Amino acid sequence: MTYQSRYAWSVLFRLFHWAFALSIVTLVVTGLYVNSPWTNTVLEGSRSFPMATMRYLHFLAGFIFASAVAVRLYLWLFGNRQEKFWDSAPITPRNIRNLFSTMAYYTYLTDRHETRLGHNALAGTVYLATIVLTLIQLVSGFYMLYPESVFWQKWGVALFETQQQARFIHHLLMWYFIIFAFFHLYIVIWNDIKSPEGLISSIFCGRKFHRSSS
Ligand code: HEM
Ligand code: HEM
Repeated sequence: MTYQSRYAWSVLFRLFHWAFALSIVTLVVTGLYVNSPWTNTVLEGSRSFPMATMRYLHFLAGFIFASAVAVRLYLWLFGNRQEKFWDSAPITPRNIRNLFSTMAYYTYLTDRHETRLGHNALAGTVYLATIVLTLIQLVSGFYMLYPESVFWQKWGVALFETQQQARFIHHLLMWYFIIFAFFHLYIVIWNDIKSPEGLISSIFCGRKFHRSSS
């Protein structure tokens, strides 16, 4: 079997990935601090005021996260073939077949699987759900940040009604992102070991080893 080195991910896609991943790590750490500060109240009352710093970092990371999501939405429409929405979303017969064959492969029911330059359809489906959840996370975050803004109030009230409800959903969604990150790391490492495609290095350098038909 021969493999060819092929260009899979554009620079913009890789920038999106790392901005998204690093902002989520920052948002989780600072968000947990906002929820239950691990320093003591004496420090909070002093000039160092860690809560203010943590909230500032949370909002800064929130804007990076929002920009990364905007880039991803752009790439769904205007990215290269692998980055486009319909390449891995479960909306075509080819992707629906791939969704089930990937599930069988991941559960060790078969050893055969279609290798793709882009995401497999199971990954594509999870990434799609993740981006939808980021939109809910963004609305709840900006609704809490700008409660007086008519724009965010309209969306916030429509989706969550009260600020407290928005805060609760915002907190619950954090756990989705934490669980996603652990599963994601497990799956990319598993794939990297199972198939000689260089999956992990592809998110740094953009190139993958693709099985050629000859
Ligand atoms: C060292 C850590 C990480 C590595 C090596 C890594 C690696 C990768 C790789 C290889 C892909 C493409 C996989 C495929 O084709 O299905 C990918 C996609 C993705 N990763 Fe990561 N990742 C890391 C951390 C994270 C973190 C912390 C997050 C967020 C919680 C994240 C979110 C995503 C998302 C959303 C995609 C899909 C991109 C899209 O098409 O929309 N990654 N990652
Ligand atoms: C994956 C992304 C995010 C995670 C994991 C996250 C996590 C959290 C957590 C855990 C809290 C504390 C809520 C509680 O009391 O339980 C929080 C609060 C908050 N977050 Fe986020 N957040 C994210 C994205 C955002 C974004 C994009 C914004 C908008 C800029 C934002 C704005 C806020 C605001 C305004 C608060 C309330 C702060 C306060 O009351 O002092 N968050 N976030």
